[in-house]
Amino acid sequence: MSFLIIAIDGGAAAGKSTTARALSSRFNFLHIDTGSYYRALTAELLRRGLNPAEVTAVESALAELPLGTVVDGRRAQIEVGGRLVPEAELRGPAVNAAVSHFAALPAVRAALLAYQRDQARIAREHRFAGLVMEGRDIGTVIFPDADFRFFLHADPEERARRRAAEGQQDSIAERDRLDSTRKAAPLLCPPGAIDIDSTFLSLDEVVARVSGPIAAQMGA
Ligand code: DC
Repeated sequence: MSFLIIAIDGGAAAGKSTTARALSSRFNFLHIDTGSYYRALTAELLRRGLNPAEVTAVESALAELPLGTVVDGRRAQIEVGGRLVPEAELRGPAVNAAVSHFAALPAVRAALLAYQRDQARIAREHRFAGLVMEGRDIGTVIFPDADFRFFLHADPEERARRRAAEGQQDSIAERDRLDSTRKAAPLLCPPGAIDIDSTFLSLDEVVARVSGPIAAQMGA
């Protein structure tokens, strides 16, 4: 059976993670949340006392930071400098406030580019049926030839409500503005992607729309 690559892009709280997790469990795909990779790099750079304006210092820090991967069930996690950053730190206010600024730096994106593409090799080695990767530039930059590319979006008020329901404080609109307007790999709907507005859909309905064409291709 062939190995499938599924790209899911969209803004914060658009439903990407729930959808990617559901696909991963239904089709036995490795789930890769690239937002958590940018968060982990941000956490480590902040720990080193760096800020996104110190571009040269950030570049030097990145050059000496080895990146590793831990496969935990169906989920891939990044190790930065041999450390798995705890979830509470990844989703905490300091990282929320800084991550879009670090993610806009070409050096940060370059540090993750080959690493993210190499996740396909890891998924194959672990005998997954494919991988589902979520982020902002997966269908445009990382895997433009993915077997399926989806773009999820929803009204900002609905997305803010979802984040608040998760108990998270996160200025979604501001992060989306930064992510969509940056020069390096901005958030945009990949040409030819299946575009889904999830504002008035339940997450089950979003998952059903995304799963349909994949199930048809896999004969599942
Ligand atoms: O998906 P998330 O909200 O956890 O992502 C955190 C930040 O990481 C997001 O504001 C922008 C950045 N990001 C990115 O630039 N490219 C990706 N492929 C994934 C995330």
